[in-house]
Amino acid sequence: MRTGVWLVGARGSVATTSVIGALALRAGLAEPTGCVTELPELRGPALPAVDDLVFGGHDIVGTALTKRAEELADAGVVPAHLVAALADGLGAVEEEIRPAPTGDRQHRQAEAVAADLTRFADRHRLDRVVVMNVAATEPAPPDHPAHADLTALRTALTGDDPVLPPSSLYAYAAFTAGCPYVDFTPSTGARLPALVGLAAERGLPYAGHDGKTGETLVKSVLAPMFAMRHLRVRSWSGLNLLGGGDGANLAEPAANAAKTASKQRVLGETLGYLPQGHTRIEYVEEIGDFKTAWDLINFSGFLGTRMRMEFTWHGCDSALAAPLVLDLARLTAAAHAAGRSGPLAELAFFFKDPLGGTPGSLGEQWSVLRDFVAGLHVAAGSPTDDGTGAGDGLSD
Ligand SMILES: NC(=O)c1ccc[n+]([C@@H]2O[C@H](COP(=O)([O-])OP(=O)(O)OC[C@H]3O[C@@H](n4cnc5c(N)ncnc54)[C@H](O)[C@@H]3O)[C@@H](O)[C@H]2O)c1
Repeated sequence: MRTGVWLVGARGSVATTSVIGALALRAGLAEPTGCVTELPELRGPALPAVDDLVFGGHDIVGTALTKRAEELADAGVVPAHLVAALADGLGAVEEEIRPAPTGDRQHRQAEAVAADLTRFADRHRLDRVVVMNVAATEPAPPDHPAHADLTALRTALTGDDPVLPPSSLYAYAAFTAGCPYVDFTPSTGARLPALVGLAAERGLPYAGHDGKTGETLVKSVLAPMFAMRHLRVRSWSGLNLLGGGDGANLAEPAANAAKTASKQRVLGETLGYLPQGHTRIEYVEEIGDFKTAWDLINFSGFLGTRMRMEFTWHGCDSALAAPLVLDLARLTAAAHAAGRSGPLAELAFFFKDPLGGTPGSLGEQWSVLRDFVAGLHVAAGSPTDDGTGAGDGLSD
């Protein structure tokens, strides 16, 4: 199944690491560590192979992909020898990156994006293209009446004033071009009734929001533990320190608010109440892509006895995110091939703020994902790999 992966924010850290990762896997220069779809429980014939993924995308900056890859190597995010070894592959992806359309009317920008997607699919004879938003996090947009209704939205897009934030305009263009859409960011994306209507009209699946890669991943494991042991979480405070492009963008208060809201949601959903405390994100240029998150949890047990735990997470954000981007592209392509439309709630495992309302326990989300993928493999004509290595996949 030849599958296009169209990266919105194609020259960013996550996008560049995803491309390097896929090229390295294809060349046999890396192990699929961190790729959930390469686990024996999930591998199988319904998923496009990494070899079948073709990359392209949009960005608002023109920095060469090879230069971005070298910067990531200098920062210790990816091994330097891979950048040299994969120069040809990076050059081929460079050819498929387009400048983000600008212009006075949003309907024209959406048409330009949709045309780029269609030409990309035609050029590479792709069965489908998954549009993946890995662009900088946006502030939440002001409400607009046209967000609620597809007909009103189509009319409003022809007007002088912008109606949609960029992430939603890309979702609109993706659906118009017949492409599934995945939002790896906390931005609005497809989360507007008018776009939900468009996806339904076109019979397309979509997924999001905000990849769960670090502190929130740990939270989604620890919070169910407190809930299952009937311990009372009195406060949960987190401090995230990060640099890089994402950190610089999140220094902007409105983007920061969008991100911190998505980070706290797991607590309310898992515990059934919101303990005191907030998650704060601070930009520290020196830290680069290596995030440090420190969490302090105050809780009480039998007879009200007060206790506490702390954890510190040092993660390389792009190295954690990139394999999930590949997983999500493969899973969303398989879901589309199987005829799924609407929100892919079964992919909640991957997200901080999952569409479709699956609760926040990572264990439950894993079971749902495993059953979902098993169903896709059965529909594709063969059960999941039994762990003997007999199935399709990179590590075979
Ligand atoms: N790395 C992680 O662990 C992780 C986890 C969850 C979510 N995310 C999200 O992934 C996104 C990407 O993170 P990153 O570290 O790669 O950031 P980055 O700043 O390195 O890259 C973002 C890219 O988006 C581009 N961009 C901005 N506006 C655009 C637009 N309108 N159209 C096209 N491109 C545009 C920028 O030019 C840049 O190249 C962020 O929103 C981040 O919050 C990352």
